[in-house]
Order: sequence, then C-alpha cells, then structure tokens
Amino acid sequence: MIRNITEDELNEQQLFSEKVRQHYSECKPESPPLAYIRTYGCQQNVSDSEHMKGMLAEMGFGFTEQPEEADFILFNTCAIREHACDRVFGNVGALKSLKARRPDVLIAVCGCMVQQEHVAAKLKESYSFVGLVFGTHVIHRLPELLLGALQQRKQMTVIPVEDGVIAEGIPVRRDGDFKAWLPIMYGCNNFCTYCIVPYVRGRERSRDPEIILQEAKDLVAAGYKEITLLGQNVNSYGRGATHGVDFAELLRRINAIEGDFTIRFMTSHPKDATPALFDTIAECKKVSRHFHLPVQSGNDRILKEMNRHYTREQYLSLVAYARHVIPEISFTSDIIVGFPGETREEFEDTLSIVKEVGFTSLFTFIYSPRRGTPAAQMPDPVPLEEKTAWLKELTALQEGISGERLARLVGTKQRALIEAQGDGYLEARLPENSVVRVPGDPSLIGRHAIVKINDARSWIMHGEICSVE
Ligand code: SAH
Ligand code: SF4
Ligand code: F3S
Repeated sequence: MIRNITEDELNEQQLFSEKVRQHYSECKPESPPLAYIRTYGCQQNVSDSEHMKGMLAEMGFGFTEQPEEADFILFNTCAIREHACDRVFGNVGALKSLKARRPDVLIAVCGCMVQQEHVAAKLKESYSFVGLVFGTHVIHRLPELLLGALQQRKQMTVIPVEDGVIAEGIPVRRDGDFKAWLPIMYGCNNFCTYCIVPYVRGRERSRDPEIILQEAKDLVAAGYKEITLLGQNVNSYGRGATHGVDFAELLRRINAIEGDFTIRFMTSHPKDATPALFDTIAECKKVSRHFHLPVQSGNDRILKEMNRHYTREQYLSLVAYARHVIPEISFTSDIIVGFPGETREEFEDTLSIVKEVGFTSLFTFIYSPRRGTPAAQMPDPVPLEEKTAWLKELTALQEGISGERLARLVGTKQRALIEAQGDGYLEARLPENSVVRVPGDPSLIGRHAIVKINDARSWIMHGEICSVE
C-alpha cells in the first residue's frame, strides 16, 4: 500500500530534530556540527539529498565538502549498475580509518543500493564502522534515525519493505539557486527486465497536482530559471488518481505560471509518450524543446525481452510526429548495449535507429546484471570484450552525429542559460541541451543570454554573448 505521511508523523520528526540539536550542543558546544553528503545516481537521488540537507539544516548542521571535518557523513547510493555499487563500497571502505581516528563521527549509508537485502547484509557483516543504514522509504524520518544511531553503539538498520510513501512538507535545501529539481512522482511500475529501480523505489505514486503547482510557483517567485520535473516515467503522472490531472495537464498548469522560466522533465517512457503530449508541448512555450526519450534498443525482439512495450516503428513514428508539430525539438536517449542474448545483427538495429533519429547526444551503458531482475536469469553468451567493442562503435557513431549537429549551429544565434564557470569561460546551455563556451563575467551565471556560436571543434562549441536578458 502507498501511504501519505501524516502531519502528526512529520511533527514527531520535529521533536527528534530538536533532540539532535541538543545532543550536539551538549557534546560539541563550540561550533555547529558539520555534515558531508555524497550523492550517487540520478536526479531523484539528488533531490532526496536536497531534502535530507533541509532536515539536517533544521537539526542545526552546517555543511562541508571535506569528510575529514564532518561529524555526520552520508552516502546516498545508486544501484542501477554494478559499477555504481562497487564505487560506493570502495568509498565507504575508505572511511574506516577516519572512523578509527575519530570515533564520534557518524557514518551513514542510504538510498537505492541499501534497499537490496544482500547489500544491507554486507554492510552489517563487513562494514561495522557504518553506524546507520536506511532505505528509500524512510528518508523523511532522518531526524529520528540520526538520533537513534547517535544513541546506540552498534549499526542501526532501518529498511522497511513497502510499496512506498509520499511525504510532503519536508524542508529542502537546494544545491542550485537558478535550477531546481521538482519531483512529481516516485517509484516505478514498469519492471523493465534489466532494471532494479522498481524493486528499490517501490510502486509508482504521484504527488498532488496542487502541491506541485505551489512548489513551482514558489520556485519561480524565488527567481529559479529552470524547473526540471522528475519521475521515472513522467508520462504516466496521475495515473490511477482521482484528480484527473495527467502529465499534459500538469505541464499546461505549470506553463501558465507568470514568469521567465523553462520547464524540463525526465524521464519519459516512449510507451506513454502520446501525440497529444507533443501537441501540448507545442502549445506550452515554457516547456523545453529538448526531450529525453530512452529507446534502449532499436531491435523489436530485444525491446520485447526488455519488457519495454513499444516497437522500433512506434518509437520512430512518435519522433516523427513530435518533429512534425515541434520542428525545433531535439532528442537525447539512453541505450543499453549487450542485453542478454543480443546478437550482432540485433545490435546493428540499435546503430541504425541511432542514425535514423539523429539524437543530440546519448547515454550509453553496457548491460549490468542486477540481482533479482528477470534479465539476470537470461543466458548471456556475448563476452564483455565484445560488448565493449560494440559500445565503442556506438559512441563513435554518435560522436559523428553530434559533431554534424553542432557544425550546423555554427553562425546561428541562440537563447541560452548561463549555467556555470569553466576555466576562463562561462558555460551557456542551449535549449536543445548542448553547451557553448563563452567569455564573460561570472556574475552572469543564472541569466539568460543570446549567444552567437562561432565554431564547433572537438565536440565543444565556442561563441560569444550578444545580449543578456
Ligand atoms: N526510468 C528511466 C530510466 C532510469 S535508469 C527510463 O525508463 O528511461 C537510467 C538508464 O540506466 C536507463 O534508461 C537504462 O538505459 C540504464 N540502465 C538501467 N538498468 C540498467 C542495467 N541493468 N544495465 C545497464 N544499464 C541500465
Ligand atoms: Fe527502470 Fe524501466 Fe522503470 Fe525506467 S521505466 S526506472 S528503466 S523499470
Ligand atoms: Fe540509481 Fe536509484 Fe536513481 S538506482 S538511477 S539512484 S532511482
């Protein structure tokens, strides 16, 4: 069952929060305690960490980028591929000597990885210096968990197995001041056969549209220029709810908020992206003309084995429709290379769909077996070296396509958001999601500008600012 966390439950957390504050003011009266948070994985995790930072700030914590000076160290983990998990174990393991030197430091591991039983068991057996381990469904209970762990000597583990919760009204301390993540839903029901997310994030559940709308209004009022709506499958927003607001309607309502801002969203599942959604986007001028639409494979048998519920033709016709109603739209995608049993011919279908669509860029992954998923049981005869060679072939193909796309932008003027500072330049992001390096003063970060693109060399564009809005 999916549960809404009640106000009483949240008020109870306030009391725990106060007790944590007291604890530190007694045992460390000279300065506020410091927290170090390291986040792995997707934007949903980044957003969760922002909420945990909000709770920690309420508990009186300051923040540090140095684990050595932290009183509380938190790893918010990702389980999507083996590599992500290995990195976490390596990095957590490296803290053992720190804990030996400073026994008062509390080390915690949370997130998708620990929601897997075997990971929690490994942390218990071999990482006893970790004081707190908690799953994805109890993030809102951080004050209670932290207090509990401070009061006991052995590892505290809280990983309830449930469908999931929706907790509203948790404080948030956002990392950026002009780009914001706004979760609209949690969990996933799709059970793509390779994917661990439905097992570690629970069932799909959507937040109330009024609450989302208010949060979006507050962000715009606070000067945010870009709001990214988050969900594993945003196109199925509101499914099963009684309020009747679907994703297209939610976009319409956010688009109607007064102000100068862009709406982005991720991720869209092709099976639920409809022509009607693209019609809506065509109408809504604040919605970004960039669409991340993971295709995973260009071969129908593999798509079926993946349980993706669309065919190559359906994907292509969706892209064609989108381009018909929004000519300037650009697409990026995710691709898995070497799904169990994929043959060379089937992989070539992926190469050909990549050519046919002409993505702006791709996120490419070698298939990584995840324990407990159906694909992990499938015969997987292709050796890793061969899959690695396929991946290289795919990335080389995409580099060529991206290079051609960038070359076509040379000489044009584009509206861009100045996002960050590099070594002697600013980074301006175009609506289609590529970055142009421009000279300029860092005070311009967070502003929109018209930039002229002067050249595109080695996959990097250079340009200049024509005017700032
Ligand atoms: N909900 C999103 C994706 C979330 S995971 C969607 O459906 O598109 C992000 C990407 O990681 C996926 O799109 C997929 O390409 C990749 N991925 C997921 N599980 C994987 C696995 N077991 N091995 C390799 N890549 C994987
Ligand atoms: Fe994983 Fe598929 Fe859900 Fe995306 S839609 S999170 S790939 S199960
Ligand atoms: Fe990773 Fe969990 Fe996101 S598994 S990709 S952090 S939902």
